[in-house]
Amino acid sequence: MIKTILRLAETHPLTWRLRDDHQPVWLDEYQNKNGYVGARKALSMEQDDVVTLVKNSGLKGRGGAGFSTGLKWSLMPKDSDMNIRYLLCNADEMEPGTYKDRLLMEQLPHLLVEGMLIAAFALKAYRGYIFLRGEYIEASTNLRRAIVEATEAGWLGKNILGNGFAFELIVHTGAGRYICGEETALINSLEGRRANPRSKPPFPASAGAWGKPTCVNNVETLCNVPAILEHGVDWYRSITAGKSNDAGTKLMGFSGRVKNPGLWELPFGITAREILEDFAGGMRDNLTLKAWQPGGASTDFLTRDHLDFQMDFENIEKAGSRLGTALAMAVDNNINMVSLTRNLEEFFARESCGWCTPCRDGLPWSVKLLRALENNKGQPGDIEILEELCRFLGPGKTFCAHAPGAVEPLQSAIKYFRPEFEAGISVEYFGNTRAIAGVQSNLFKMC
Ligand SMILES: Cc1cc2nc3c(=O)[nH]c(=O)nc-3n(C[C@H](O)[C@H](O)[C@H](O)COP(=O)(O)O)c2cc1C
Ligand code: SF4
Repeated sequence: MIKTILRLAETHPLTWRLRDDHQPVWLDEYQNKNGYVGARKALSMEQDDVVTLVKNSGLKGRGGAGFSTGLKWSLMPKDSDMNIRYLLCNADEMEPGTYKDRLLMEQLPHLLVEGMLIAAFALKAYRGYIFLRGEYIEASTNLRRAIVEATEAGWLGKNILGNGFAFELIVHTGAGRYICGEETALINSLEGRRANPRSKPPFPASAGAWGKPTCVNNVETLCNVPAILEHGVDWYRSITAGKSNDAGTKLMGFSGRVKNPGLWELPFGITAREILEDFAGGMRDNLTLKAWQPGGASTDFLTRDHLDFQMDFENIEKAGSRLGTALAMAVDNNINMVSLTRNLEEFFARESCGWCTPCRDGLPWSVKLLRALENNKGQPGDIEILEELCRFLGPGKTFCAHAPGAVEPLQSAIKYFRPEFEAGISVEYFGNTRAIAGVQSNLFKMC
């Protein structure tokens, strides 16, 4: 039985304003539904107090890494002569299977404008950019209209609410590269440079866009801020009290061959099984769930045995994966894990920016081996090479987190479904298996 949700401001701070006809909520309606109340409150406070409030709320970034938003804000320099600062909204959203930010931007554009206004005030940023995935045409149109409405109403521009604070907001559409979502590549792209990640340090908080202090936050992260200002820290933490160490709600979903694919605003702490069965309606056409990725293509596969883990940053890590974007993908029993993994690695290899060797050469190599296994032309030792590649491309071995994310599905597919990979080794090689494997692993050590 698929659950229907009654969306209330107290329980669904992100989505309660959504219209049943899926049309965007424009300024008048947004204001009638308590829009900009949080911004009004923020602008009556000291800027540092807004940072402290967001820190105390426990809000964590929704872009994938789950870093404390208030802590990130507090890392911006305090000195007053660095008065040019930028707030960048990461709206690149190219993670396969993820479409949460799109919903917010298309249907609730003022929620993002309000979230950015509050963040900019707290950070003393005079200009904000929404770095938007180029294909999100409707989001672009709706955000631009919302910015015009907000400017005419005095929510953007000079001397907002007579407070002396000024903030302008610009929509910048990207040309469509996955790596533009990495925050320093995003900054390079915004500046008109090639979208390669930058070395850290310096971190964007000290030297970001055009060398100035910069804060990059995800769309959903920023959309959480108005309600925190409006209802306070205790309310925000109470949403998940006793169920999860993470505060607030999250857009979560399931795609794949489920009966009712979609996304819902749910409290952290709900189990993956509840989302799959109660909201997504379970698997369709008598298929069974074989594996699932909790939060996008760059997260480790889990199995049916992990469905009772709670969906939050800590628990999904305990299960052996990452919460990521929390938009889960279901893999059914008809899908071959080698083909699926090859497909994913092909995407990641194509989207590598090519800056560092392990990622530039390692990902295409993995695709080559996976394609051979997929066509039953694999050689003994290929699986071991793939495992070695996963280690060589793991955390800390490459210039940015693209490669470690890319090998998460590969390492976990081999871990849980090794016989499917072994089945791809050509029978021609049996009989001389040990000798060939030995030669290959020596070759690999020389590379
Ligand atoms: C390859 C790669 C792609 C990323 N893509 C996105 C993205 O599309 N959207 C996003 O918000 N964060 C993305 N991130 C994470 C950002 O680098 C950054 O951590 C995030 O925007 C910070 O916002 P938050 O603190 O609000 O989560 C990506 C990271 C990597 C390594
Ligand atoms: S890990 Fe990949 S995407 Fe990141 S800098 Fe290196 S080549 Fe570029």
